[in-house]
Amino acid sequence: MAVRTTRVGDDRVGGDRVGIDYDDEARVWLLRTPGTAYAVACPPEVTVHRQQLPDVLLHVYWGAPVTLADAVQIATVQRSRWSRRGFESPLDGAEEYPVAGGLRFARPALAARFAGDVRSVEWRLTGSSATHDAGAHELTLEFADAYFPLAVAVHYRIQAGTDVIERWVTATNTGSAVIELDRVDSAAWTLPEWDSYRLSHLIGRWGAETQLRRQELTEGTFTTGSRRGITSHHANPWFALDDGTATEQAGSVYSGALAWSGSWEFAAQRLAQGGMQVLGGLGHTDFGPYRLAAGESLDTPVFAGLYTSDGFGAASRGWHEYTLRHVLANADTNRPVLYNSWEATGFDVNEQNQMALAAKAARIGCELFVMDDGWFGSRVHDHAGLGDWRVNPDRFPNGLTPLIDEVHRLGMDFGIWVEPEMVNPDSDLYREHPDWVYHFPERTRHQMRNQLVLNLARLDVADWMFTQLDNLLSDNDIRFVKWDMNRVFTEPGWPSNADNPARLWTDHVHNLYGVLDRLRAAHPDVAFESCSGGGGRIDLGILARTDQVWTSDNTDGPDRLIIQDGYSQLYPARAMSCWVTDVPNFLDPRTVPLRYRFHAAMAGVLGVGGDLSEWSDAELDEAAELIAQYKKVRSIVQHGRLYRLRAPSDGLSAVQYVTRDRTQAVVLAYLGAQRFGQRPPVLRLAGLDPTARYRASGFDVEFTGAALHTFGLPVRLQGDYDSVLVHLTRVDD
Ligand code: DGJ
Repeated sequence: MAVRTTRVGDDRVGGDRVGIDYDDEARVWLLRTPGTAYAVACPPEVTVHRQQLPDVLLHVYWGAPVTLADAVQIATVQRSRWSRRGFESPLDGAEEYPVAGGLRFARPALAARFAGDVRSVEWRLTGSSATHDAGAHELTLEFADAYFPLAVAVHYRIQAGTDVIERWVTATNTGSAVIELDRVDSAAWTLPEWDSYRLSHLIGRWGAETQLRRQELTEGTFTTGSRRGITSHHANPWFALDDGTATEQAGSVYSGALAWSGSWEFAAQRLAQGGMQVLGGLGHTDFGPYRLAAGESLDTPVFAGLYTSDGFGAASRGWHEYTLRHVLANADTNRPVLYNSWEATGFDVNEQNQMALAAKAARIGCELFVMDDGWFGSRVHDHAGLGDWRVNPDRFPNGLTPLIDEVHRLGMDFGIWVEPEMVNPDSDLYREHPDWVYHFPERTRHQMRNQLVLNLARLDVADWMFTQLDNLLSDNDIRFVKWDMNRVFTEPGWPSNADNPARLWTDHVHNLYGVLDRLRAAHPDVAFESCSGGGGRIDLGILARTDQVWTSDNTDGPDRLIIQDGYSQLYPARAMSCWVTDVPNFLDPRTVPLRYRFHAAMAGVLGVGGDLSEWSDAELDEAAELIAQYKKVRSIVQHGRLYRLRAPSDGLSAVQYVTRDRTQAVVLAYLGAQRFGQRPPVLRLAGLDPTARYRASGFDVEFTGAALHTFGLPVRLQGDYDSVLVHLTRVDD
């Protein structure tokens, strides 16, 4: 059939030359982003083992900008190099979206089962389109199985001003019988052939999220992901691959991130015959087939990819830019300094103690007072009350209004904690709706933190949830919701949907997004924070519906620098919520100076979470001074470009933020411990205008950008846990 693609070339979006080119003879599509190119081909003829295969979608190129003519030639040369050996299939590692079936032996992105247990897809290209709308270019390649009623649309999107390429697929059952999908990834990313591959990824656990790991990948498949129903503390859906030589400042780096807040899986597959692909998408192996009903479509989440030639630092800045421009809503605004009562009052919240904390929070300059867990139902400990979203009348006899009024009188906004996806068995909700939780009737309903997970895949539960929160936000002047999620999925049964229980993994997330979207539309002045026992639900999917994320329950300064370093590989400071808490605290016995704790938290969205009723006047004064200092520089931190100058270590580490016009910068430097006789090194800065002169706070000389890049800033840190914030301002002649 004729394949028609609208040519959308040579457009200028925000000053960048971006677009989609198409060669209709070779059937090659070239996507051009401001700094990269990406090409795929569906050649008219592909011969494998002397058989002509129709409509094979091949990966052609991803990297530095090339022309369409280059891409056409690469596509031809690539095929001329294909192996003809009997035991190998040249399709393995070469296809853009490999399906299970035919001459393929590598891991597929799509595995489907049709009537008669036929487990093989043979598709034809049925159409293609390239469109340009509101600054975004989109390419859709449409395929349909030659025999069974499965249609698959492979989508690509380039957004304005970013090299990030978004990919996802839509699988549609165009027939009348169920089709089972064992796996439906969002994309397969194909890398150039290198001698070696080094994977960077993020692992962790509760209290130690987003820990950066780097390891060489040898032949075989490395998988990572979450089987817990949430993004998880244990792995974060981001990867970066380089050839083992990239540094923070230089080298080719290919990276990818999945916009999904449920179970997920990445597989980095290095083939023995050469080549590397990273496949990824929602769901985990053996979560059960996704049964696509007649007429139904499944849109996978976006799996976005980014190529950069200037090292890991540039890759991170590319992701930050993309997230600020195209993922986060209201990214241009500054996030306020919040106070959160959790570590001060735990479950023992009441009107008096919250008012007393609010007075102290206002005194030190906080702008948002957030009351955490314990204000509702019979929630006086973690054994009861979750699900009953009514204000506890013993603790707040006149509702929340007196507290909120007092918070307003003190000049702050009011925020509140909720955990809507959860229920304690000891709650009115559970007594009324014991069937509203995930469960298998024949199995134990195991509890974690004394709670069970509500079956949010059910539409009646989603509606109930929206109503509870809509009422709370309509009845009270609340400007911030901390949305928590403290229990992962177990016993994933949905007895009333026995025909298709595996859908709960996806429908839970879709309905979570739906409730958040509805709440945001109904209450546009309310900001949302994603929390999941700290950083268990941080991903590009949740960031599209929230304003910030709680990075970790671990607020120990030195630990936090490591968590923040991992977080910053992908996610921007503008969304990274950080609190200063007490030392030692419930998690960590280490004592770190208040100033260091503030400086660690000032690298993102500053908050305070300590028990202010125990802070001395001197501590409150110091806090007030540091918060005032943060307010002066927060727009640079929250919106500037991040340079990781030195990774967290026992010695000197530092991060730097530079405004887009390079007129201002902030450096936060930390010393772990000083060794005898060892001077901390001079700190070489980055990202400044080399010819401009800068004044640095705390220094009485001016430096050019070149001097600061090459010689550095002689920060004078000494002893244990010393730290400094330096504000650089360009000096105009
Ligand atoms: C876990 C969160 O990470 C904490 O900050 C706090 O909100 C508790 N839940 C409350 O139960």
